[in-house]
Amino acid sequence: MAERRIGIVLNGATGRMGTTQHLRNLLDMRREGGLPLANGDRLVPDLLLAGRDAGKLSALAAASGGARWTTDLHSALGDSANDIFFDCAITGYRAPSARAAIAAGKHVYLEKPIAPSLDEAVGLARLATEAGVKHGVIQDKVHLPGLMKLRMLRDSGFFGRILSVQLEFGWWVFDGFFQPSQRSSWNYRQSEGGGLVLDMYAHYRYILDRVVAPVTRVVCRTAIQTPRRADERGAPYDVDADDAAYALMELQGGIIATVTSSWATRLRRDDMLQLKIDGTHGSAVAGLHDCRIQSLVSTPKPPWNADAKQPMNFYTQWQDVPDNITYRPSFRACWEDFLRHVAEDAPFVPTLLEGAKAVQLAELAYQSNIEGRWIDIPPL
Ligand SMILES: NC(=O)c1ccc[n+]([C@@H]2O[C@H](COP(=O)([O-])OP(=O)(O)OC[C@H]3O[C@@H](n4cnc5c(N)ncnc54)[C@H](O)[C@@H]3O)[C@@H](O)[C@H]2O)c1
Repeated sequence: MAERRIGIVLNGATGRMGTTQHLRNLLDMRREGGLPLANGDRLVPDLLLAGRDAGKLSALAAASGGARWTTDLHSALGDSANDIFFDCAITGYRAPSARAAIAAGKHVYLEKPIAPSLDEAVGLARLATEAGVKHGVIQDKVHLPGLMKLRMLRDSGFFGRILSVQLEFGWWVFDGFFQPSQRSSWNYRQSEGGGLVLDMYAHYRYILDRVVAPVTRVVCRTAIQTPRRADERGAPYDVDADDAAYALMELQGGIIATVTSSWATRLRRDDMLQLKIDGTHGSAVAGLHDCRIQSLVSTPKPPWNADAKQPMNFYTQWQDVPDNITYRPSFRACWEDFLRHVAEDAPFVPTLLEGAKAVQLAELAYQSNIEGRWIDIPPL
């Protein structure tokens, strides 16, 4: 049993996702002595934290047990000690760094969305494939217990014929004037890769494709519901990227999905992202962790009488799907799968082509918003 080192450049390490998800999970892996491989070896990540702010990077590196750090991405990519380039910096600047990494012969792993436009996204997928490097995109949500339970229900035939899907996402994001905003200002600027559709439809494409059925058509209306916000320094700015979107999607088999997303809504449902599936034999509703079901035979017949108060409490009529297995933390699962793909050629689903499909759904949703019509989603 040997220990094998693997050099990983973590670009955008000081950001929210960089620090709280990617770095944390990779450090956990190191602490545990590395990732066990099929032949008994252990793969130990050697991290190089990359970004723009030397002060923040050196502090984060020190707090991470003395990880390497740099503000010089070009040199990092030229160094043969680094095998993988990972990018979780802001969306708008991802594609040029990824192209440079591919040209330097690095394996590339990218946060979603992999690029702001379909052309760039497909270009990245093609470049990486032609260069013969391993490539992938983060698809964390399919590893969450709630969505894994939904997939198990689908695969077990629980739903019968799936009729419809309701996807609801969002919460209130403060505008930054009287309380700090929970999201960075780039999210509300088109030029930096902002926009809810680009950000979230990148998740919805793989969630729907992998948990329910492939998406075939979309019609979408976007909105800017909070047109003026204050940035990280308190300076006011005009928002030019969508912060809400309302869509209908059609999935293979004629399944209709209603997809509601907003950063200007207050929560009254089980979770911040909720997915409900109705089928001929049963229905299920899942948040990120919990999933509740109601089968055809346990479906009640509530009285429809507008003059009388409803006697049934519909929330109590569902049954929990139990936690029968131990779920891997979702981002840890992404990293384990990609590292095994790089180190031992293990099968891997979310390649950059899948990442491009996600950008395709966002781009066609924007096109539908402009043209006010349904748009077919061609195969890539
Ligand atoms: N998979 C998920 O669930 C998920 C969730 C949130 C965000 N994301 C994605 O992760 C990425 C980062 O999001 P975040 O919420 O961590 O953002 P953030 O604003 O917290 O962090 C962004 C990082 O990019 C760096 N950065 C900013 N401007 C830059 C520039 N001009 N050049 C290079 N680096 C720059 C910042 O220093 C910071 O390290 C986005 O692409 C977003 O779509 C994914």
